[in-house]
Amino acid sequence: MGKDLHYEIIDAPDYKVLAACIGDNPKQQRWSDYPDWGEELLQFHAPDPRLYVGAYKGKNLVGCMIAHPDTLRIRGKSFNTAVIAITEVLMLHRKQGIASKMLEKMLSQITSLGFELVLAFQTAGRGGKNILKRAGFKKIYKYGHAGKVLDKDKMDKLMDLNPILRKIALKIISAKIGETKPVRGVIREVKEDDLDQIVDLLNKESDRLDIASYWTKEYLKKKIDWRYKVFVLEKENAILGAVITYTEIGTLGKDYFTTGFLKEMVFQEGVEDRAKQILVNNVLRRFKEKEIPSISYPYPKNVWRVIKKLGFHVLPGDERTVFIKPLTLPAQQALEVIDKFRYVNVFLIC
Ligand SMILES: CC(C)(COP(=O)(O)OP(=O)(O)OC[C@H]1O[C@@H](n2cnc3c(N)ncnc32)[C@H](O)[C@@H]1OP(=O)(O)O)[C@@H](O)C(=O)NCCC(=O)NCCS
Repeated sequence: MGKDLHYEIIDAPDYKVLAACIGDNPKQQRWSDYPDWGEELLQFHAPDPRLYVGAYKGKNLVGCMIAHPDTLRIRGKSFNTAVIAITEVLMLHRKQGIASKMLEKMLSQITSLGFELVLAFQTAGRGGKNILKRAGFKKIYKYGHAGKVLDKDKMDKLMDLNPILRKIALKIISAKIGETKPVRGVIREVKEDDLDQIVDLLNKESDRLDIASYWTKEYLKKKIDWRYKVFVLEKENAILGAVITYTEIGTLGKDYFTTGFLKEMVFQEGVEDRAKQILVNNVLRRFKEKEIPSISYPYPKNVWRVIKKLGFHVLPGDERTVFIKPLTLPAQQALEVIDKFRYVNVFLIC
């Protein structure tokens, strides 16, 4: 068994083939079947195919592992990091050691490319729960999503679901949107001139966390030019807070629906919760006008007080565990200092 299997860096990726390999699950659609996922998403978020590993049986791709480069801050120090975002093996080929072998290949590739740190995720209930541990990774953190339903009517139409999904959907229904007019300042869409201030806010926030992405103006601009929308609370030319959003078509049961994501929320020190809530509410109202029936925030811990008041609930069954492995001595030393990882905020593709 496995003799005709081989593992390669996918130098010239065929994104259609890759996307078709992701999400092989009889209860769900594949990645490539989602109207808004697949090729474009992959190319945007994981732009460096030197970090794509394929498992081939003969000429057929039966598994893939995809990482993307990121600069991560650990308590104020930057590390050149590879984030393993996707690990997939076609159903028929699972439990034969393919993911473990892809990981081996990926680790040797990212080490030879000079990365200092590698981060990976494991999604609850998706198999291979010990692969990362066996490869020397350390479990550091659990992620979840918090969500809120904006358009109850639309959601009701999606209620032709299996009982479990129905229960989840009902839990997060909270269509009400409160006050959206700021007491001070104005809420508006981002302008080019705001970007420096927003990047500064994002990096100040990153430095308050144990591990977080480091932002640059170019990186933020690239995201805005693509599909991200940013809303700010501004007063007298100072940005008091910013919410970075993104929309994506997801599925629930057999139906598609658009979900808004609050990717990041950052505020100046001293901005009170009420003002934060009003900014977020304003964004929610704009989403609702676009008939987006639900919204989600992937990293609820740091603004939990703010979003809980707005009717967000933690989404059940959507938990990811973050694993980390240092590849250099300085990275190892930076990690050793941290006893308990309380706040980690790293970009996740899915
Ligand atoms: C997670 C996943 C990648 C694992 O792939 P895999 O090739 O089956 O992984 P491996 O075979 O290396 O390891 C899986 C398990 O099989 C075991 N195994 C490996 N070879 C084996 C063999 N010959 N016989 C029996 N068991 C074996 C491993 O010990 C491992 O055990 P663990 O779960 O305790 O860690 C796969 O289950 C998958 O694609 N899941 C879906 C992922 C997903 O939903 N991704 C979302 C998009 S990002």
